[in-house]
Amino acid sequence: MDISVVHTVFFSPTHTSLTIANAIAEGIGASKRRMWDITYEKPVDDIVIEDGIAVFAVPVYGGRVAETAVERLLSIKGNGTPAVIAVVYGNRDYEDALIELRDLVKKQGFIPVSGGAFIGEHSYSRVDRPVAEGRPDEKDKNIAFTFGSDTSVFLRHWSGELVELNVKGNFPYKKKGVKTPQTPVTVEELCTQCGYCIEICPTQAIQLQDEIVSDPEPCIKCCACVKECPNQARVFETPFTDYLFQNFSFRRDPELFFSVEYK
Ligand SMILES: Cc1cc2nc3c(=O)[nH]c(=O)nc-3n(C[C@H](O)[C@H](O)[C@H](O)COP(=O)(O)O)c2cc1C
Ligand code: SF4
Ligand code: SF4
Repeated sequence: MDISVVHTVFFSPTHTSLTIANAIAEGIGASKRRMWDITYEKPVDDIVIEDGIAVFAVPVYGGRVAETAVERLLSIKGNGTPAVIAVVYGNRDYEDALIELRDLVKKQGFIPVSGGAFIGEHSYSRVDRPVAEGRPDEKDKNIAFTFGSDTSVFLRHWSGELVELNVKGNFPYKKKGVKTPQTPVTVEELCTQCGYCIEICPTQAIQLQDEIVSDPEPCIKCCACVKECPNQARVFETPFTDYLFQNFSFRRDPELFFSVEYK
């Protein structure tokens, strides 16, 4: 089949899913690339991807696909279009996220042909308690690249019929946890009120009132504001950081899945 175009579709507040999407797309090696960034807003109109191949990459939140990503992915439609699916998690576990993403893209009209669970620096990683710090690193990117190129070998000989992609995970999916009202807070002495965090918040949860504040309702605790504030003025202290640091500091490696028809 024709794979001259690769469409990357990603939700990626702290850019690790984006890095994996790009590495997979490079590995597929199409001459044309289109990017559909759903990190900052839900597309106003539906986007229909009918040509080439789509690469989906989203983060794992609580063992599931990040809920905001799910809401926004409902605007992306395929028409029997082959898809590579990737979830990126912070070295703890991805539980039912990959199977959930597979089922979702299928419902949206895509044919998932390969899938992977990759590791990204945990949103709650901190300099003094690192969790998967700096990942995806070069080794991860090489694995993602090879995964993309292996998928393209399969696709070149694929006639377009349905294929079966089995991935790790269970249905019914893991139950979601109860949303808590905590958000990152601002250290006034360090904040210059530059407004950058307002721009890069995926859910428009930040406002400049007398000071920079987050509304707990839309805040998804993605920690983009914490990681990207140029003055380290945003802080999110959660007991998860200690828990993750103590229990999930060992290195985990990506897991890859190909359709049963893959030879
Ligand atoms: C609310 C929330 C829940 C998370 N849940 C998990 C999880 O269940 N397992 C895990 O290993 N990492 C978890 N993470 C970490 C992210 O999956 C990880 O940092 C990922 O690389 C972020 O992707 P992004 O850089 O594309 O935003 C969670 C992060 C957040 C913000
Ligand atoms: S990015 Fe940092 S310095 Fe700029 S307004 Fe936000 S918290 Fe303040
Ligand atoms: S305010 Fe909440 S949703 Fe917005 S960037 Fe910060 S952690 Fe993410």
